[in-house]
Amino acid sequence: MSKNSISNSVIRRLPRYYRFLGELENNGYVRISSRELSEKMGLTASQIRQDFNCFGEFGQQGYGYNVSDLRLEIGKILGLDKQTPMILLGAGNLGKAIAAHIDFHSKGFDLIGAFDINEELIGKEIGELKVRSVDELSSFCAENNPVAAILCVPMQAAEKLANTLISCGIKAFWNFTHYDLKVAHKGVAVENVHLGDSLTTLSYCLNNIEGAEKK
Ligand code: NAI
Repeated sequence: MSKNSISNSVIRRLPRYYRFLGELENNGYVRISSRELSEKMGLTASQIRQDFNCFGEFGQQGYGYNVSDLRLEIGKILGLDKQTPMILLGAGNLGKAIAAHIDFHSKGFDLIGAFDINEELIGKEIGELKVRSVDELSSFCAENNPVAAILCVPMQAAEKLANTLISCGIKAFWNFTHYDLKVAHKGVAVENVHLGDSLTTLSYCLNNIEGAEKK
């Protein structure tokens, strides 16, 4: 199956498989059947087999899956065997929290720079980095070749900044602004993140619990 024909929902399940297999590995599992994996993950065994078949033959009839080999393969599919240089734009509340709390290395990224326009933040430490002025963005990118960017700026600044970043060689955006970035350029990846959408989904689920009394 060509990579382009793999459905978005399969791709979105891969990080969960990867995380789950890591937990199994830490708990001493060497191999697991698709049935056992399905029970633990709350998916059907055929769903799991179909998902993995998109990428090749991972399991063996009668043996199941070797946990660490499968995790390694899924990691490769996710690109976690590389470290992609990444920069952060906006060193405010969210930018600080992300820089301090996300384990970039285990997710295939290396956070190499942080930028802001606020004079009071420039030169301050954020995670393990010193905040730089956005005026340095072009020269920094020319020298260090970051490929991905995190957008933690106000919504109004997102589009213009994204265009500048693309001209500096950025090919992937982890976009936290509420501006739904749909980059008009080919060959640029965008992941829009809305924590609020997740909370709204929780509200829906809460209001539709089977057997719950309707108020
Ligand atoms: P904040 O105001 O604390 O930080 C924003 C920072 O961006 C400021 O330090 C500001 O100086 C800087 N900035 C403004 N224009 C810039 C530019 N052109 N280049 C570089 N830096 C620039 O705001 P906060 O709370 O950190 O939120 C950041 C963004 O994330 C906002 O757009 C907010 O709406 C959004 N947000 C999204 C969430 C989500 O789930 N997607 C959750 C929380 C916030």
